[in-house]
Amino acid sequence: MINVGKADELKIYTLVDDYAGYNSPFWAGHGLSLLLDVVHDGRRTRILFDTASDAELVLHNMRLLGVDPRSVDMIVLSHSHYDHTGGLMGIMKELHKETPIFAHPDIFKVSFATEPEFLYAGIPPLRGGSKDEIGKLGGIWILTKDPIRLAPGAFLTGEIGEEERTSFERECLVGLYKLENGRVVPDKVEDEVSLACLTKEGLVIVAGCAHPGIVSIVKKAMKISEVNEVYAVVGGLHLVSADMQRIKKTIDALKGLGVQKIYAGHCTGLKAEAAFLEAYGDCFEKLHTGKVICF
Ligand SMILES: [Fe+2]
Ligand SMILES: [Fe+2]
Repeated sequence: MINVGKADELKIYTLVDDYAGYNSPFWAGHGLSLLLDVVHDGRRTRILFDTASDAELVLHNMRLLGVDPRSVDMIVLSHSHYDHTGGLMGIMKELHKETPIFAHPDIFKVSFATEPEFLYAGIPPLRGGSKDEIGKLGGIWILTKDPIRLAPGAFLTGEIGEEERTSFERECLVGLYKLENGRVVPDKVEDEVSLACLTKEGLVIVAGCAHPGIVSIVKKAMKISEVNEVYAVVGGLHLVSADMQRIKKTIDALKGLGVQKIYAGHCTGLKAEAAFLEAYGDCFEKLHTGKVICF
């Protein structure tokens, strides 16, 4: 348990999602990037959560939303996948100031798909940059598997260990591999960390792709904070390749945990979004670029 504190206000800007919304001036693009404004006692902390696949998308949409990129105080990379890290280099060039970047220590691993052909899935060297290049642009790497507090109310879950995963979420839904001591082994995306923020309504859980399973992530955030009220889940839930049985189990478990609102997009998938809409009604909202959510 850590003393997570409590935010007075939380505002989430959807800077990039795969969908731009109906009749929208925003640019959609593969991946996810969210900006969190955490306000406590009149002080605001701006956390950039993921950088989508390209900085141009993030910066264009930031301009339309009237957000100055230099106002970002810190960056969180939820996991290594290029659709969450590809914008890092371009964003750091724009920020050009000393900026803490929080991620799991395995964020630089070599991760890839082999079907239909080889595809490198990790941080793209030209768009995401190397550890040293980002350091030269002011990035201060804080690489930890442990939970860590970022601002009053806001904290990272750290790694969700195998034993912490809910049984039906142990099967990883991405067909990826990674290199480990020169061997090719299945990649279960152990490097994924999520963000949570305790607001006056309860916990708001923010996930990049939720590869460890959204139910396991919610439970971990509850355990760290010792708070049982979960107000909302926001982000990508990676159910795009899940069967209906897993989708149903996920929805039942989230309802069982008392999660009141779902804002899902990116890799959630149409089938799961339709199921959430049916189960949650107006308490389900599809995430899209440009959407601003206030808590
Ligand atoms: Fe993703
Ligand atoms: Fe991912």
